[in-house]
Amino acid sequence: MKKIIAINAGPRKGWNTDQLVSSAVKGAQDQGCEVEYIDLYRLPKFTGCVSCFGCKREPGFGTCICKDGLYDVLVKVRNADGLIIGSPNYLGDLSAGFRAFYERIIFQSLTYNKERPCCNEHRIPVLLITTSNCSEDYYDMIGYTRMLENYQSNFERFVGPTHVFICGDTLQVNDYSIYNWTIFDPQAKKEHRDQTFESYQQKAYKMGMEILTAAE
Ligand SMILES: Cc1cc2nc3c(=O)[nH]c(=O)nc-3n(C[C@H](O)[C@H](O)[C@H](O)COP(=O)(O)O)c2cc1C
Repeated sequence: MKKIIAINAGPRKGWNTDQLVSSAVKGAQDQGCEVEYIDLYRLPKFTGCVSCFGCKREPGFGTCICKDGLYDVLVKVRNADGLIIGSPNYLGDLSAGFRAFYERIIFQSLTYNKERPCCNEHRIPVLLITTSNCSEDYYDMIGYTRMLENYQSNFERFVGPTHVFICGDTLQVNDYSIYNWTIFDPQAKKEHRDQTFESYQQKAYKMGMEILTAAE
């Protein structure tokens, strides 16, 4: 049975990112995959890359040797057949938890070697899901497209073929009235959510179903 690791790199259980990752998980499961779901923000303490270079020489060559909360996650991803990872957009980038994971999963396979720049021989498909307040319509204009292309390109080089799925204009809280967030139109946010979120979930489900086949 094919094994997929699914990671929620957002801190909120049950919210947009978690729900879309869960939809993709359901899709992968319905295709017969075994999926392990990992909530990054509920792991024991972890950091980004600590620049120890243990992954650049034996006995740890090609593997992150930093034994914190992410260690086992990286082992599992290295042994998996696919990776689903979701992150909210935080300040124009992906979350700090995502970044920590990203630094470590990418850097372990990056060799600084001209002849063999990537030492990862076990390429697996990746589905990167992201959610944001900002609508997809503005992604090109404010640099989010470029930011995601950069992640996609590094995942493709060091992990495997990568698809990106964007869900913009999310409902950030259930009750906007308790905040003084005057830039939002709560009614419009709610309507948008009611009218569109299910179709995003369906799309995520489909992408989860196709993760092993539609990757290349
Ligand atoms: C710390 C923080 C920073 C954020 N920065 C941005 C941002 O720069 N651009 C944006 O579109 N949304 C931003 N958001 C909104 C979230 O990306 C959006 O609400 C997302 O869907 C939240 O995911 P969740 O519901 O899974 O928690 C930010 C939210 C937080 C908490």
